[in-house]
Amino acid sequence: MNEIKIFCPATIANLSCGFDVLGLCLETIGDEMIIRKVNEKGIRITKITGADLPLETEKNVAGVAALAICKDAINRVSLDHGFEIEIHKKIKAGSGIGSSSASAAGSVFGINELLGKPFSRHELVEFAMKGEVVASGCEHADNVAPCLLGGFTLVRGYDPIDVIRIESPEELYAVVLHPHIEVKTADARAVLQPMISLKSAITQWGNVGGLIAGLYTKDYELIGRSLQDVVVEPLRKHLIPSFDEVKFTAMHHGALGAGISGAGPSIFALCKGLAVAEKVAYAMTEEYLNTGIPADIHISKINPIGVSII
Ligand code: HSE
Repeated sequence: MNEIKIFCPATIANLSCGFDVLGLCLETIGDEMIIRKVNEKGIRITKITGADLPLETEKNVAGVAALAICKDAINRVSLDHGFEIEIHKKIKAGSGIGSSSASAAGSVFGINELLGKPFSRHELVEFAMKGEVVASGCEHADNVAPCLLGGFTLVRGYDPIDVIRIESPEELYAVVLHPHIEVKTADARAVLQPMISLKSAITQWGNVGGLIAGLYTKDYELIGRSLQDVVVEPLRKHLIPSFDEVKFTAMHHGALGAGISGAGPSIFALCKGLAVAEKVAYAMTEEYLNTGIPADIHISKINPIGVSII
């Protein structure tokens, strides 16, 4: 195999209580990438459509992630050729649904396939994280992990990286409202405080445990009760016009829970069943019309596979 075309799904990071540790993979939104083996050594980004992003390998998340996997791959396979990467963006940068992660994860997944899979999907997370640094200034895995592994993921630890994949309950749907404003991850991280109170920490880790237990036991009410964030959401919600109103509307129309998707500005809601998800999506859209800011709405099941070959 000399060329591969892949689907790189969007993701929702944090899931309210799990800043930098929790994420899920979406099914209906994602980029496409083409990666091919070429005789000339090194990594070249040859084409980007749908976004104005740098073609220079060292400045592009996909390029940096590709360099990271190739650096390690030489310990496992002979690497006497290079790779060309084409990126066809559908996920807007700065939308809060893992645009940069999709490119980083797609890049390492595609190269790994073309090399004959020397690394497991879990091992690829670390390489993809290197790409994330270009976009957000720090290595976090809560988007790249669900993008590579599918389902829900928990980053149990960063040093060393330890990611646990959790199956989604069958009837769970995600609704994502994407207002057409850009919030840079680095800016959304700059509003956070380095210290939190013990009281907030207790609330937050109780909810993380509750959410994980709810996913394993398919207890939708427990999942809903656990989608609370007393640490990050209060500091970031001001970056998103009408966040409180949209969240209230989603809950009022039957969502299990709602919050900021990743670093925002997208707002997500989790719902039990398609009928509720459609009702919630409609209500969130109607509510957002009041802001005068154009917005997209997406309804998606949880993607159990992650990045995949088309
Ligand atoms: N956990 C990250 C954040 C996700 O909230 O800053 C954004 O990419």
